[in-house]
Amino acid sequence: MESQAHSIIEEPAGAPPRHVAIIMDGNGRWAKREGKIRAAGHRQGAEAVREAIEGALQNGVEYLTLYAFSSENWNRPEEEVRDLMGLLKLYLNREVKTMHKQNVRLRVIGRKDRLSSDIQQMITKAEEHTKDNTRLTLVIALSYGSRDEIIDAAKALAQEVEAGALKVDEIDEDRFTAFLSTKGLPDPDMIIRTSGEQRLSNFLLWQAAYSEFLFLDILWPDFTKETFAEAVSEYQGRDRRYGLRP
Ligand code: IPE
Ligand code: IPE
Ligand code: MG
Repeated sequence: MESQAHSIIEEPAGAPPRHVAIIMDGNGRWAKREGKIRAAGHRQGAEAVREAIEGALQNGVEYLTLYAFSSENWNRPEEEVRDLMGLLKLYLNREVKTMHKQNVRLRVIGRKDRLSSDIQQMITKAEEHTKDNTRLTLVIALSYGSRDEIIDAAKALAQEVEAGALKVDEIDEDRFTAFLSTKGLPDPDMIIRTSGEQRLSNFLLWQAAYSEFLFLDILWPDFTKETFAEAVSEYQGRDRRYGLRP
C-alpha cells in the first residue's frame, strides 16, 4: 500500500493551525513566584486550561491537545501526584457539562490503566457523553508518554505479524500510526510549550515530525485566550516546507 503522506499536505500560507498541542509547564514556578504552595499553581493551571479551550474555539482550531500529566510525572512526590489527581477529578466533574455545551468532544490519550478506577470511569463517561460533538476535539494527554505509545504500537504490529495477519513489508506509516493513541487525529501543526523550557519531555515524538514549535517564556497559569490568539498569528507567519522546496 502506498503511503498517503497524510502529514505532508501543503497548506496555503497564512492558514490557521488545525491542530494545536500544548505542553502546559510552569505551575510550580508560578506558585513560587506568588509565594504559594505548588498545589495552588496546579489549581491556577486548571483555570488556564479553560482559556486555552476558549482560545481554540475563537480561532477556529479543530483539535487541541493538552499535555496534563506525563508517564514520568508519576515519579513526583506522592503528595503532588495526589493533588494533581484530585484536581483532575474536580476538573472533570465541573467542566464536562460546559464542554458539551460548547460542542467540544473530549478524548483522553495515555496509560489510562494507571489511573484510579473512579477517574477511568469519569473519563469513559465524559468521552461517551461528548462523542458526537463537532466543533473542537479536546485531547487530554494523561499518564502519557510517547515512548510508551510507540512501544505499544510496535508490539501490536509484531503480534499481527506473528498471527500471520500482516507481512513485515506491509508495515508503513499508515499502518504504524493506526496503532498510536492519536489514531484518526491529524499531526499537530503547532506545539506550544510555556515556562521557557525548550524540550518535548516525551510528548508526541512521532507526531511532531513536521510541527512548528513555539516556546513561550510565560508560566502556564498566566496563559490566556489572548496568548492563544498571538500564538496563532505567529504560526500564520511561519513558512512550512516539509522538505519540498529550497
Ligand atoms: C506543569 O507544571 C504541570 C505538570 C507537569 C503536571 P510543573 O509542575 O512542571 O511546574 P514547574 O515546571 O515545576 O514550574
Ligand atoms: C512536561 O512537564 C509534562 C507536562 C507539562 C504535563 P515537566 O515539567 O514534567 O517536564 P520536565 O521535567 O521539565 O522535562
Ligand atoms: Mg515542569
